[in-house]
Amino acid sequence: MSLRLLAVSGSLRAASSNSRAIEALARLAPAGVEVEIYRGIGELPFFNLDLDGETPPAAVRHWRERVGAHDGLIICSPEYAHGVAGAMKNALDWLVPSLEFPEKPVALVNASPGARFAQAHMRETLTVMSARMVDEACLAIPLQGRNLTVEQMVADPEVAGLLGAVIAALARAIDSDAEAGAG
Ligand SMILES: Cc1cc2nc3c(=O)[nH]c(=O)nc-3n(C[C@H](O)[C@H](O)[C@H](O)COP(=O)(O)O)c2cc1C
Repeated sequence: MSLRLLAVSGSLRAASSNSRAIEALARLAPAGVEVEIYRGIGELPFFNLDLDGETPPAAVRHWRERVGAHDGLIICSPEYAHGVAGAMKNALDWLVPSLEFPEKPVALVNASPGARFAQAHMRETLTVMSARMVDEACLAIPLQGRNLTVEQMVADPEVAGLLGAVIAALARAIDSDAEAGAG
């Protein structure tokens, strides 16, 4: 059975380096690992518990459903003003009251290694949300300022190696959790 990973970029910019990194990561997935890219976080309304009634907004239902349908989540998000990008934080807030998220294995990819605050904030948020943080899959990838295309990332041995290592570490953690659960 193949492993299913959901990858999401926290940047809404068309020429986003975080989104390109996610694209490159998806292309580097080995046989047996399927990476779906979630492109809908810009469609989510601002988090408001009043909207989370019997029938939450369609965009929210879709986001939760895709998270629930995957074995693990990969997040690659920029830092803005020493904080988590608002669109990404909003998407995470919508998962707080959801049934789909707790214990979900999560990898955090940092495409701007100089950005230290947002990664720590996001880790704190994900931890309190009961994510299963996979530390070995949380890697910094030196992309900032290089403006690499997706193809260049895939062809760059260092970048491709790090993106491949994220997938491999997340896959290993999910497999070992499954073995522990079965045993
Ligand atoms: C309004 C704004 C605030 C930013 N604040 C920070 C910051 O606090 N720390 C940092 O490392 N980079 C900061 N940056 C740089 C972005 O994180 C960087 O440009 C990143 O590549 C954007 O991601 P993207 O290419 O995926 O859109 C900021 C950029 C903007 C536009």
